[in-house]
Amino acid sequence: MNLFDIIYDGQAQYLQRAEEMVAKVVAEKGKETPVKFPGTAYALPCIYAITGKKITNVGELEDALALAKEKIHRTNYLQDALDAGTASAMLAEIIEAIKYVYDEIPYAGRAVEDLNTTDERYLGHITDAEVRNFGVPLVTDDIPGVAVIIGEAKDAETLAGIVKDYQGKGLLTFMVGKVIDQAVEQKIKMGIDLRVIPLGHEIESVIHVVSVAIRASLIFGATPPGDFLAHRTYTKKRVKAFVNVFGPWDNKIIAAGAAAIELGFPAVTETFINEVPTLLLHQPDNSKVVATSLEARNIKIKVTEIDCPVAVSSAFEGERVRKDTMFAEFGGNKTECWELVTTGDLAEMEDHKITVVGPDIDDAMFEGKGVVRLPMGVVVKVAGKQMQKDFETVLERRIHYFTNYIEGAMHVGQRNIAWIRLTKEAFEKGFRLKHIGEVLYAKMRSDFDKVVDKCEVTIYTNAEDVKRLGEEMVKPIYAERDERMGALTDESVDEFYTCLLCQSFAPSHVCIVTPERLGLCGAVSWLDAKATKELDPMGPNQPVVKGAAIDERLGVWDSVNEAVATNSQGAVEKVTLYSILEDPMTSCGCFECICGIMPEANGVIIVNREFGDVSPVGMTFGELASMTGGGVQTPGFMGHGRFLIGSKKFMSAEGGLPRIVWMPKELKDDVADRLNKAVFEMTGIENFADMVCDETIANDSEAVLEFLESKGHPALAMDPIM
Ligand code: SF4
Ligand code: NI
Ligand code: NI
Repeated sequence: MNLFDIIYDGQAQYLQRAEEMVAKVVAEKGKETPVKFPGTAYALPCIYAITGKKITNVGELEDALALAKEKIHRTNYLQDALDAGTASAMLAEIIEAIKYVYDEIPYAGRAVEDLNTTDERYLGHITDAEVRNFGVPLVTDDIPGVAVIIGEAKDAETLAGIVKDYQGKGLLTFMVGKVIDQAVEQKIKMGIDLRVIPLGHEIESVIHVVSVAIRASLIFGATPPGDFLAHRTYTKKRVKAFVNVFGPWDNKIIAAGAAAIELGFPAVTETFINEVPTLLLHQPDNSKVVATSLEARNIKIKVTEIDCPVAVSSAFEGERVRKDTMFAEFGGNKTECWELVTTGDLAEMEDHKITVVGPDIDDAMFEGKGVVRLPMGVVVKVAGKQMQKDFETVLERRIHYFTNYIEGAMHVGQRNIAWIRLTKEAFEKGFRLKHIGEVLYAKMRSDFDKVVDKCEVTIYTNAEDVKRLGEEMVKPIYAERDERMGALTDESVDEFYTCLLCQSFAPSHVCIVTPERLGLCGAVSWLDAKATKELDPMGPNQPVVKGAAIDERLGVWDSVNEAVATNSQGAVEKVTLYSILEDPMTSCGCFECICGIMPEANGVIIVNREFGDVSPVGMTFGELASMTGGGVQTPGFMGHGRFLIGSKKFMSAEGGLPRIVWMPKELKDDVADRLNKAVFEMTGIENFADMVCDETIANDSEAVLEFLESKGHPALAMDPIM
């Protein structure tokens, strides 16, 4: 068979299976039975993007079949063969969707906590919220690419080496087929948070990664459903994915490969099929497959040499350390734990000086006593000619990420509520406290090379030092910073900043970051933007010299409009900084929260990404989120960071924070202190958070209203919101 015959044959196999399954599900479940993947607002996303049609019930699966068949024209033209690949993708999506009709959780890995300890390891469909979670790491290049591994490698060690290599480089790796068993055999840590995602055993499950790429285009790119050429252009240019096929291939794998190629994702095969320059590559040498793949997609990895016995990679950021694998613990309400970045004297400092003062985790006194528990104080002292005091907090917050990058370390919190856990496995590999210092040192020097010329790390673990320094040195510094941050308002500065980071995925989106309005991803504050400008003068954060406001209430500045118009290539000409109704700021799609108007309550509800249920406006986070994104203005909906809930500028044109009528409880508890303080200062109302409804109180409109009335919620007495 030649390559085209192989693709057409693979496609024919998908068609046969899809037709059989559709006929069966129609007969057994009836046409009215709903069809959907969990946690997505984009119906069957691939079919929706390709054809513009939302498939929502079993009856419509027959239409979907017909639409797939329209793509099939058996000729000797390359484009027709690629279309057969696209048809295969649509058919695979139909087959997978039917699995969800019969079983709410067809991929049982979804219901288990640790994929490595069970046979139920497949994850299947990825939700919109999970796709959005990838947004920030993708734009910051923390996730530099996406690998899709299919088939069976010649042995498990080889496969493990390749997956670990991708993981160590921060890539997102999806697996389909026997490679998953091989990864499990080799104890590769798997899970969405670890960026190694076992999709499923059958080749059809590969559609779940195609669906991720397609939804990036729908969500971040605001690409119109039905304009498949635009989607292909988007994925080809912006989603740096590629496919690795190991072992013998079959025709279905190759048909799926054709679909990948059509989206711009090159395939690298171990067994020779054919070669198509830049698109279909043959690499029989397993030791070269990573390099060949990265090169094919032009992915460049920045390496930082770190003296550490375990892997250090952004892929391990989301790794959790549970009680049963834990060896040592610091903080977490059991001991004191704080961290601080301060500026030292360049002349007096000794670069790369790492000191541990107090017992280490292998101290003889812990022998045979279970979990090692110690207090900890971490002081990172930096100095540099370009270093500014304001950057200290920016660097300090990175301690959280850098520590998390360590394989076998978990870091939660910040400042004096930090909490660190280390695994037994890391300890056995030789990890000691000085390695935390090594990691912080190396990352500070490489990520902040423009401002950090010298760096020293001191780790205190004896109770007396941790307590004394905590009181005498650390607390006064936090207090001074808080005071300074409190005085930092939009009025008190001359410059705002643009953030264009998300343009790699949302080409016309611009964030305007001000002291009182951080970026909607929650990751970029005004100080962060200012520091980034220093580190990378031509980079994504550029100052906008404010000048006089045209409208102070709405927050309109000529300078801001100009910056937005220029940087969105004219797509957006006007934004307000303080209104959700009039020219609200656009969203890329990776916002932490979304607020939307609840007209009958005369206020707004806020939903965070982690909340899975339906909100009182009848929509989930994902459904609300799908109303905005991709750099489009949608009055009445606004994506924003968690920290904005507590800012006096939060939709202040419409009355601000007192308009908030409902939030999920977890979010409410998280922001309560700041929210209460701000509302008290604005209105004199105490404990405002108690007036805000949440899902544990009421979830339907009527009951929410009743609650608000019983509490005398201020929104009810305000001017009509619309
Ligand atoms: Fe993206 Fe805005 Fe965050 Fe910048 S501030 S990374 S543009 S969401
Ligand atoms: Ni970690
Ligand atoms: Ni974004």
